[in-house]
Amino acid sequence: MSGNIYNSRTMKNGFLGFDASFMLDFVVSALVLIVPILLYSLYVVKVQKNFTLHRNLQIVLGVVLLVAVAAFEIDTQLVHGGWENIVNKNPDEPRLTGAAYLSVQRILRFHLIFAITTPFLWVITLVYALRKFPNPPQPGVHSKLHSTLGWLSVIDIVMTSVTGLWFYYAAFVA
Ligand code: HEM
Repeated sequence: MSGNIYNSRTMKNGFLGFDASFMLDFVVSALVLIVPILLYSLYVVKVQKNFTLHRNLQIVLGVVLLVAVAAFEIDTQLVHGGWENIVNKNPDEPRLTGAAYLSVQRILRFHLIFAITTPFLWVITLVYALRKFPNPPQPGVHSKLHSTLGWLSVIDIVMTSVTGLWFYYAAFVA
């Protein structure tokens, strides 16, 4: 497949300047961008009481997250055959071996606790909110449960982002 754009050096190694992959750089960028938008959505709902804008922002964030993660997983698992093949893409000069490899693998497992639970929690929070709040959204009987689900979803996505960046740093930058 020489000569196609995917295999050009930049795309193969990502665009952040490290030895990763295009989709890894894409998903890392998405995880970083999501946090300020999420903070804005919380400001909008808690301070401005603009429940409709909060709903719309959360739906967009949820869809962007789902698309980014699905594309990332397809690329990492099906195209590359696992993260090991991205981090050690050059078998003659592997980036990570022995204790360093095991340490990054531990960080990845920790990251996966949050990364796997987040989409489930987000879907539950979104679906419940859309069904139980009136339209246009207003505080009501669903507020208490939504507050619990909402804050758990916020913590989960922030932990996904922080541990994801930690993995990226350990695997491709350090
Ligand atoms: C994953 C998606 C969502 C997350 C993470 C989320 C998160 C939150 C958080 C943390 C709060 C503040 C709770 C508090 O401390 O009082 C909140 C409030 C609120 N959210 Fe969401 N939200 C999401 C989706 C939605 C959707 C789709 C709707 C509307 C259909 C909605 C409507 C509201 C309303 C009306 C409040 C104010 C509740 C009250 O003050 O009683 N949220 N949300």
